[in-house]
Amino acid sequence: MTALTLSTAAASGLRADAIVVGVAKGAKGPVVAAGAESVDKAYDGKLASVLDTLGATGAEGEVTKLPAPSGFKAPLVLAVGLGAVPEKDSGYDAEALRRAAGAAARALAGSKKAAFALPVEDAAGTGAIAEGALLGAYSFDAYKAGDDTAAKGRGAKDSKGPKAPLAEVALLGAKPRDKAHKAAAERAVALAEELNRARDLINTPPNDLNPEAFAAVATAAAKEHGVKIQVLDEKALAKGGYGGILGVGVGSEAPPRLVKLSYSAGKAKKHLAFVGKGITYDSGGISLKPAGHNETMKCDMAGAAAVFAAVITAARLGLDVNVTGWLALAENMPSGSATRPGDVLRMYSGKTVEVLNTDAEGRLVLADAITKASEDKPDAIVDVATLTGAMMVALGGRTFGIMANDDAFRTSLHEIAEEVGEPSWPMPLPEHLRKGMDSPTADIANMGERMGGGLVAGLFLKEFVGEGISWAHLDIAGPAYNEAAPFGYTPKGGTGSAVRTLVRLAERTAAGDLG
Ligand code: BES
Ligand code: MN
Ligand code: ZN
Repeated sequence: MTALTLSTAAASGLRADAIVVGVAKGAKGPVVAAGAESVDKAYDGKLASVLDTLGATGAEGEVTKLPAPSGFKAPLVLAVGLGAVPEKDSGYDAEALRRAAGAAARALAGSKKAAFALPVEDAAGTGAIAEGALLGAYSFDAYKAGDDTAAKGRGAKDSKGPKAPLAEVALLGAKPRDKAHKAAAERAVALAEELNRARDLINTPPNDLNPEAFAAVATAAAKEHGVKIQVLDEKALAKGGYGGILGVGVGSEAPPRLVKLSYSAGKAKKHLAFVGKGITYDSGGISLKPAGHNETMKCDMAGAAAVFAAVITAARLGLDVNVTGWLALAENMPSGSATRPGDVLRMYSGKTVEVLNTDAEGRLVLADAITKASEDKPDAIVDVATLTGAMMVALGGRTFGIMANDDAFRTSLHEIAEEVGEPSWPMPLPEHLRKGMDSPTADIANMGERMGGGLVAGLFLKEFVGEGISWAHLDIAGPAYNEAAPFGYTPKGGTGSAVRTLVRLAERTAAGDLG
């Protein structure tokens, strides 16, 4: 991943490929943001008017490149838009900094080193810029032109292969000897490394990432970071009676897995359980998805990837909270051995489920994992899942829905998501939708009314949560995978949605901020 350093060097003397400065949108044109004073001075105080001449406005995400002033060792200045000038004294909010740093880092793909001279007011600013830059520099090229010519040409302008991500980021204005700044930078590095690994997993094609392969990646990472791991294979799942996970995985040549990751912090008072939907490919099963609906379904394990990343990050940060991660991994395929619409599964909880639609598979694997997670009696369970197209219809491609059996917990998660820059919205679990899942044969069906399909799925999951445990469900079907153009620090493809919300929840729980 991109390397990060905090530097006290002057912009003029830095050996870098580019100096990044911030430009905001003022009432009368672009305004150069704090942090770039020395750069502006080298342009004789005319940077704003030069940018104006070049057509720059300071709009969010706008990138303007100009030759560096004479005397600078770096050849290029890159001005990145921060959006509106903040109201007096309030400073730029963290998300504006993250997005600007991300857009700049992405625009500098192919470069070796860039110095970021963005407005840093405090350690939080350092953390936000670091996070934005490290996440924005991400690209997934593992499957692109791996031949020698392309490899040699990586970074070169005339190369046919993809440009290598920006290799090194130096943050100017951050205080390398200040404890809080250092900690913020270290947090950003750990978080971005794990979040980017989650993106890699999501982007990895399903012929290379089946449940067994995912479990192997989790095993290696857990060993590296002192996290306990337990992997239940198909035999153990059968022995344990995990009818939901088995029922989904039974149509595939690649058998399912249930992975438990346990991070224990010495004397922590609280215990969180995270549960992730890990369908490594969702064809729909016998209720096969039509063409046009299955091309991106390698992303259906994004919930499990988020949970995995969050647990490893909590361990790397040494948070004072116990965190258990459950990855419910299966491939949903049609075959002669696949579950049929009409089959009844006996779940790990003992409940029976009539499978009316094999494409409603996420709730089946999650139900078993949620029941199992409940046995440890955690203080709260959060599941993360690309669960329903309906949630995407309701909230669009950038916002996840939050459902819960506890209004205060739902509100907390919504606030935490907002704080870390993840758009979300609280959704209800209306009881009247439950009867739509009544089955003549079994205790419940895996489908109900079409209208409110995201809420129906939430109501299904709720039935598997242990008595008295606070539970929330994040339906990330929209934001998990970005099919549109990249923006801010969000790339095309796997985004790492919900990782930062889970990590912040763990941090806040460790700090005793939550009941
Ligand atoms: N993985 C899909 C949901 C999904 C759709 C995620 C689009 C990301 C993008 C899920 O397993 C699914 O197929 N859900 C069905 C449920 C229905 C059959 C009750 C859906 O939403 O159509
Ligand atoms: Mn499905
Ligand atoms: Zn699915």
